[in-house]
Amino acid sequence: MDKPAAMNEKLRQEFNQWALDGRSSALEAHHRCFVEDTLQLMNIQPADRILEVGCGEGWASRRLASLVPEGLVVGLDVADEMVSKARPGSAACDNLLFVWADVEAIPWQEKFFSKALCVETFYYLENPENALREIFRVLSPGGSVWIVNHLSKENEITLRWLPHFRVPVNLLSAEDYGKLFESCGFQEYAFHMIPDRTPDSDASYYQHLTDPDERRRFRELGALLMTARRPEE
Ligand SMILES: C[S@@+](CC[C@H](N)C(=O)[O-])C[C@H]1O[C@@H](n2cnc3c(N)ncnc32)[C@H](O)[C@@H]1O
Repeated sequence: MDKPAAMNEKLRQEFNQWALDGRSSALEAHHRCFVEDTLQLMNIQPADRILEVGCGEGWASRRLASLVPEGLVVGLDVADEMVSKARPGSAACDNLLFVWADVEAIPWQEKFFSKALCVETFYYLENPENALREIFRVLSPGGSVWIVNHLSKENEITLRWLPHFRVPVNLLSAEDYGKLFESCGFQEYAFHMIPDRTPDSDASYYQHLTDPDERRRFRELGALLMTARRPEE
């Protein structure tokens, strides 16, 4: 793989390590439920062209590709080890490809995608505004962005995670996202909380939430889903 011209080396190394030690393989089991809820809200059309930002091992991109038989899905990730894991599982899909790149420098033409999805990735981004401007650039007029995160001021239990991150993260509220959307030119932004319906069985996922009441509250509050639209021209 050719190394992208600009990328965040610290994030690349952190998530390459996740891919190599197997942490990223466990993510699908934890994220699938709220991603399915998100897909229902996205009103996906067979010819949609969808960008997945921070695609990891590519499971959500493969799911998206199954929903857009006349369209295209591009999964993008800063970690080349993630992209290497994503590519083989998708060899049979002719409407899916994976690219190694930083979302702050998306190697794609402007106004191409009708939708962009970003799952449990946005809070890692070094400069969220640059990233949103890049997503805006590659979205077609009328296209929409969908960002879903547990880590937010809306789920206060996730504050417990903060000391455990090995890279800097952004703790934002729905209001903060609203301001970001506005400053990048997006309109019609909206927010939903998606309660966590994933099985409460994997101790490693909940290792920083040992109090059962906190864990219940974490699951009740769930993930913050934010969406906004690039205006029609
Ligand atoms: C917590 S993982 C989530 C992966 C996937 N969305 C999932 O749910 O399984 C975060 C992902 O975001 C990617 N990522 C982090 N910063 C990025 C950036 N600046 N540009 C592109 N991808 C990035 C990481 O490499 C990692 O694969």
